[in-house]
Amino acid sequence: MNNPQLDSNGNLKHFLTTEGLGKQHLTKILDLAESFATVAGKSVKKVPLLRGKTIINLFFETSTRTRTTFELAASRLSADVQSINIATSATSKGESLLDMLHNLEAMHCDMFVVRHGDSGAAHFIAKHVADHVSVINAGDGRHAHPTQAMLDMFTIRRHKGEFHNLKVAIVGDILHSRVARSQIHALNTLGVGELRVVGPKTLIPAAFGQMGAHIFHNLEQGLDGVDVVIMLRLQKERMQGALLPSENEYFQRYGLTRETLRLAKPDAIVMHPGPINRGVEIASSVADGPQSVILEQVSNGLAVRMAVMSMVLGRQPGVESSAEGQ
Ligand code: NCD
Repeated sequence: MNNPQLDSNGNLKHFLTTEGLGKQHLTKILDLAESFATVAGKSVKKVPLLRGKTIINLFFETSTRTRTTFELAASRLSADVQSINIATSATSKGESLLDMLHNLEAMHCDMFVVRHGDSGAAHFIAKHVADHVSVINAGDGRHAHPTQAMLDMFTIRRHKGEFHNLKVAIVGDILHSRVARSQIHALNTLGVGELRVVGPKTLIPAAFGQMGAHIFHNLEQGLDGVDVVIMLRLQKERMQGALLPSENEYFQRYGLTRETLRLAKPDAIVMHPGPINRGVEIASSVADGPQSVILEQVSNGLAVRMAVMSMVLGRQPGVESSAEGQ
């Protein structure tokens, strides 16, 4: 089947989902990000790889981390970047999404980075943009958030090496999580040793069992002996009806505390895509504790987004030799 993310030579043209991409694509993103991570440590942080390119961030949903790291990643690649505030754009005056896109294309833009509340929005946009324009999905509904998943893979690989020996537990509100879906596809493709999803029955659809994950409704059993714990935010804004007991009760049963974390391997890392709800899914002592790599994930987001942006525009370095400064 044709993968809408790839061009006729099998190169990444859009990045819409981790689903259906081969190990070679995912590994290439991680390897390239590794070379960009060294740029971040230099006093002049720019490389001229995307000089002359124009990138437009279209965020139909709020975001702090993701939007800012996309903006910074674009400017560190020397692209011109513009973020559009959708609430005040012409779409709120009734201009259709496609009219808006075509107007932005008329300004010679090369890439859209899209976050949207509807699952499938990024695919829809990729289908309708001009041939030379690439689309990166920065989160669509419950469907996918591929750059978040790849920065998570990057963080895991940096701490733990290859995936085949690892036991990874994803804990919490799996049902509403585009991050979990993208992580599961990426972890499977990268050959993770064992994948677990942990949470209450109401927040784990049975279909996740068919995605190769072992389902646990008991936190203690789910964490037993794992190398990586990924906590997810309770996405209350996406919940309709009573899926949960009180937040307090949720924390008692599924919150990650110093005590429950002891069940994982002693050197397990704790991850969270943010924003975190302290005292709901994770105790502050764990979020700020020595096993937490939550802020590292944010830093790694920059290098991974630089890698994806340059790959979809077909510009791959020699990063070291093209760095403008030390
Ligand atoms: C996630 C998202 O928006 O999907 N956050 C993020 O991108 N950093 C997860 C969440 O909102 O809980």
